[in-house]
Amino acid sequence: MNVLIADKFEAHGQEALRQAGFDVTCDPHLGGYDLVDAIKGIEPDVLVVRSTRVTSDMLHAGAKLKLVIRAGSGFDTIDVAAATDRCIRVCNCPGKNSVAVAELTMGLMIALDRRIVDETDDLRRGVWNKKEYSKARGLMGRTLGIVGLGRIGFEVAVRARAFGMRLIYSDVIEHPEMERELGLSRVTMERLLEEADFLTLHVPGGSDTHHMIGRRELERMKPTAFVINCSRGGVVDEAALADAVRNGMIAGAALDVFEIEPAATEAAFSDPIRAVPHVYGTHHVGASTDQAQEAVADEVVKIIRTFKETGKFLNCVNTDDAVMA
Ligand SMILES: NC(=O)c1ccc[n+]([C@@H]2O[C@H](COP(=O)([O-])OP(=O)(O)OC[C@H]3O[C@@H](n4cnc5c(N)ncnc54)[C@H](O)[C@@H]3O)[C@@H](O)[C@H]2O)c1
Repeated sequence: MNVLIADKFEAHGQEALRQAGFDVTCDPHLGGYDLVDAIKGIEPDVLVVRSTRVTSDMLHAGAKLKLVIRAGSGFDTIDVAAATDRCIRVCNCPGKNSVAVAELTMGLMIALDRRIVDETDDLRRGVWNKKEYSKARGLMGRTLGIVGLGRIGFEVAVRARAFGMRLIYSDVIEHPEMERELGLSRVTMERLLEEADFLTLHVPGGSDTHHMIGRRELERMKPTAFVINCSRGGVVDEAALADAVRNGMIAGAALDVFEIEPAATEAAFSDPIRAVPHVYGTHHVGASTDQAQEAVADEVVKIIRTFKETGKFLNCVNTDDAVMA
């Protein structure tokens, strides 16, 4: 069985697949037309991707393709509808990188409160400014508003509780067990916007959540509040966020994800939000820790082995049997 990995992938995961008898091709540079050609040439049964987009053309190029695995949790980079049309299953690895994203979220929260990025910038320029930077409000007793209390939202709540924060959340579904376990309260989005000292987003991307934080929402927030987005770029209206920070409507923001991100891992980045003071940014690296990547690789191996040994698809996101039949 042929496995094509069109992204970076842990060496131990590749080795586990080879030892299990799979023919593995791994090329982290494949994408776009190159990937269409590679699929035509290699004729993989299984395609594994992390950030690489999987388009309808790629799915049509794979005469033998039966399974596409997203080595991560979100799957909005894969044309799932086209895969379903072609009777190709799409599986993901939910929850394996939740701790990594939660750790980055906590890091950004502390960085914003203490202005760590600006402080470091000043020190690098040879400027000592204890007066300017002695004004942090601290996290203890502050209210953290979590939008989307799923796997990552939960891990953020666990860590924020250890910091003594008050926890509120907004979600389309109720999570009574997490509420009990962590002392969380479910509130309306309006109340969350008004009460949050830090608002952190952990909802899926897509049309339902597109620009769920825009001008109207930002206007309801405290001038001392911060917004953190480690979910998907389109969830926040970046132009409205830039205006809100510039005008002092909120105190600042930190983004790991952007409305338009370069497809390549090294590229120029000209998004205007990058230059707004009090907006900190990271390079969509929420899931990029060794722990998370090893856990994701193990899950990918498990999905492929299960498929080969039993014909079953673990974590399948297009399970509509009527459509797939
Ligand atoms: N920055 C990164 O590198 C990185 C890594 C992994 C995941 N993510 C992103 O993080 C997000 C969350 O991932 P997860 O694994 O926790 O997902 P999840 O499915 O476990 O949780 C999502 C939660 O959001 C809730 N939700 C859905 N629509 C909502 C809405 N309109 N309003 C309020 N709540 C809503 C769901 O009910 C659920 O509780 C996804 O967008 C994912 O793509 C980012």
